[in-house]
Amino acid sequence: MIRPISRYGAEVLHQPARPVSDITPEITQLVDDMIQTMYAAPGIGLAATQIGVPLRIFVADISLGRNPADLITFINPEFVERDGMQLEEEGCLSVPGFNATLARPSRVVVKGLNRHGEEQVIEGTGLLARCFQHEMDHLEGTLFVDRLRGLQKDLIVRKIKKLSRAGKW
Ligand code: NI
Repeated sequence: MIRPISRYGAEVLHQPARPVSDITPEITQLVDDMIQTMYAAPGIGLAATQIGVPLRIFVADISLGRNPADLITFINPEFVERDGMQLEEEGCLSVPGFNATLARPSRVVVKGLNRHGEEQVIEGTGLLARCFQHEMDHLEGTLFVDRLRGLQKDLIVRKIKKLSRAGKW
């Protein structure tokens, strides 16, 4: 089932998510819904908080569904390694219509459970490294806008508030 995506300002997006204690059928269903919602958007990643569920789960597919092997589900993910630096433009399904250039490590290694509850360790470089970090941020209640400073951040936040007041957010 495709679920509605929460937008910047929704409380659930701005709080840390809780670890998943058991991979129950409800969690498997949630993961399926997240995958469907991500592909429908379309996006290359989606965290559970974005569909209003404060649990530490994200899905990612930098091929946007073209390569089934690229579909990744992480439950209770943790960083094992982070290094290098990349400067690229970034956006978010919860902040539609906005993007900004952001510095992120260029390589990360993430450890966590897959959808079957088995431990997996996945290295990401370039876009996948950026995607992993963006989704891990979501699980801490951080959006890319929160990583911006000064004018760049003020401008986006001001525009979002204006859209909100007009009932267009
Ligand atoms: Ni996002």
